[in-house]
Amino acid sequence: LNYNVARERRYIMEVLFNGLRRLEYRGYDSSGIAIDNDLSFAAGEGERPYASALPLVFRREGKIESLVRSVYSEVDAVGLDLEKSFMVHAGIAHTRWATHGVPSPRNSHPQSSGSWDEFLVVHNGIITNYEVLKETLIRHGFTFESDTDTEVIPKLAKFVFDQAREGDQAVTFSQVVIEVIRQLEGAYALIFKSSHYPNELIACRRGSTLILGVKGLTNEKNYAASFGDVKTLTADGQPKELFFSSDLCAIVEHTKNYLAIEDNEVVHLKDGSVSVLKFDYSKEKPASVQRALSVLEMEVEQIKKGNYDHFMQKEIHEQPHSLTTTMRGRLRDKSVVLGGLKDHLKTIRHSRRIIFVGCGTSYNAALAARPFLEELSGIPVTMELASDLLDRKGPIYREDTAVFVSQSGETADTLLALEYALSNGALCVGITNTVGSTLARKTHCGVHINAGCEIGVASTKAYTSQIVVITIMALAIGADSISTQSRRESIINSLSDLPDKVREVLRLDNEMKDLAESLMQMQSLLVFGRGYNYATALEGALKVKEVALMHSEGMLAGEMKHGPLALVDETLPIIVIATRDACFSQQQSVIQQLHARKGRLIVMCSSGDAASVCSGGSCRLIEVPLVADCLQPVINIIPLQLLAYHLTVLRGYDVDQPRNLAKSVTTQ
Ligand code: G6P
Repeated sequence: LNYNVARERRYIMEVLFNGLRRLEYRGYDSSGIAIDNDLSFAAGEGERPYASALPLVFRREGKIESLVRSVYSEVDAVGLDLEKSFMVHAGIAHTRWATHGVPSPRNSHPQSSGSWDEFLVVHNGIITNYEVLKETLIRHGFTFESDTDTEVIPKLAKFVFDQAREGDQAVTFSQVVIEVIRQLEGAYALIFKSSHYPNELIACRRGSTLILGVKGLTNEKNYAASFGDVKTLTADGQPKELFFSSDLCAIVEHTKNYLAIEDNEVVHLKDGSVSVLKFDYSKEKPASVQRALSVLEMEVEQIKKGNYDHFMQKEIHEQPHSLTTTMRGRLRDKSVVLGGLKDHLKTIRHSRRIIFVGCGTSYNAALAARPFLEELSGIPVTMELASDLLDRKGPIYREDTAVFVSQSGETADTLLALEYALSNGALCVGITNTVGSTLARKTHCGVHINAGCEIGVASTKAYTSQIVVITIMALAIGADSISTQSRRESIINSLSDLPDKVREVLRLDNEMKDLAESLMQMQSLLVFGRGYNYATALEGALKVKEVALMHSEGMLAGEMKHGPLALVDETLPIIVIATRDACFSQQQSVIQQLHARKGRLIVMCSSGDAASVCSGGSCRLIEVPLVADCLQPVINIIPLQLLAYHLTVLRGYDVDQPRNLAKSVTTQ
């Protein structure tokens, strides 16, 4: 939304398209955009009722670029003047990951109130009572075109608006929206645009992240102090551009000043002013609130590919740096500091149990760090996949500490599990990469992993930073034990050396490409690990399946004889992780048994260990630098990340946006 400076429509469209490109990693099966048209209408017979500016709406299936291409190619057809300037322009756009309804133009957002597009809505999340609302609206004569839950929202807005008009009441845009959201159940981040309220946008949220970026402040300090005051915003420091977005990534190239919108707030942009209304179900009138702006600590480079071909590749190679940032300020000579946990360490030490909860890669990271936490804390540590915990309603008690791990901090299953644990009275700790995320806000305490913005859908640098943060957390929890002091000190030393060791293992890039060439035609790949590296096997296999679209299973080597051995033959490639730690001799014997079955082996071992791991038969080796046992998973995953990356490129699949997946799964 622009104010004060006339902006060409071309610029406005590009800002919206670019915003979508930044968010595409979150979902990429269809997209849409609504921009203002030049036409003005007076209400007249047969004309669109009450409307004053007709929006132009484009919706397409497929990736953002297909929307961009088709909009530009339709520009002529619809007579759109790209040079046309607007003093104020309110546009909205959305990229979708289908939950209700197949990817198609009619299911894309903005969803509409019907002909004339009087109310348009973009939505993240799920409206759980949409069926009831839909039935009611159908009874009132509305017809539905999409299969989405979202469509009830603009239609409900039109219904509320029409009713007020019939009763001859003047109704403001925020009154309409508040009446709509009173009826909604579920989770949402919503932006409303209406032809009845040109030059206005309204955003609100419940459960899903939404931020407002403010560009063009002349006096940022004053703004920070009194944001939300309409007068301040219309004075000297009036913002020239305002952005709503579900992710800071989409605004960082425009501004660093932002407001994290909270649940039950309605943010109303109108003719250059911003008002924030706090909405309370029990009260009739929403109250206007003052909010301070935050300053974004993110550089534009973080969201660009630089010299790399893909974000996943960039993020793999960034790990020496991301790990350094993760550890910055947290390691002392003989101790560790975690500001976000220090007031809760005592409670954690007295917990009956520590429960890790996460999904996908985040779960695997917790699994990798679990043995060390058990060792240092002496507390039983259990693992929960968020969806499974919810399915079972597994018991959680007040005496438990539940640690929620999530890169995005927005994964629906993890957040629902968090609500469940909070309602059971457990101490809830968050470990996330996303400052201001729902996870960061709803947990009692926590740690940011500070790995920097991760854009590739397959998580790489966040995984290694999560392991390191949980390891540091274990060191903090175990800090009062004398018996483990020397062990702790040696791990702290090893942590300091870790970025250099990661640099070393990244030199295997070409070797992994070569290995990928030899495996690219395979149908299947198995990865065997145990102990600290059971998680490495799961995570390595997950990387291969999610991006290279090759069937791959991570397995506990200790279970090999209980089934997986039946699969072994001369063709199926099997990676065995056999770096030095307490499980080394067991892994040696696994290798022997696989040799005996003529398995096609690729063995990951510590540098210099080739002879000890590969005696009884032929095998291909991946030699990695040796670090402290509990940190070895950080090193060992990297060749497997590289392997998955190269396999994907060689097999011709999309690296950063794998088929059917999304980076943040914000719906159940
Ligand atoms: C999705 C992503 C995975 C990720 C998982 C958990 O499935 O595709 O890469 O590991 O969500 O995400 P989170 O943001 O909670 O770590």
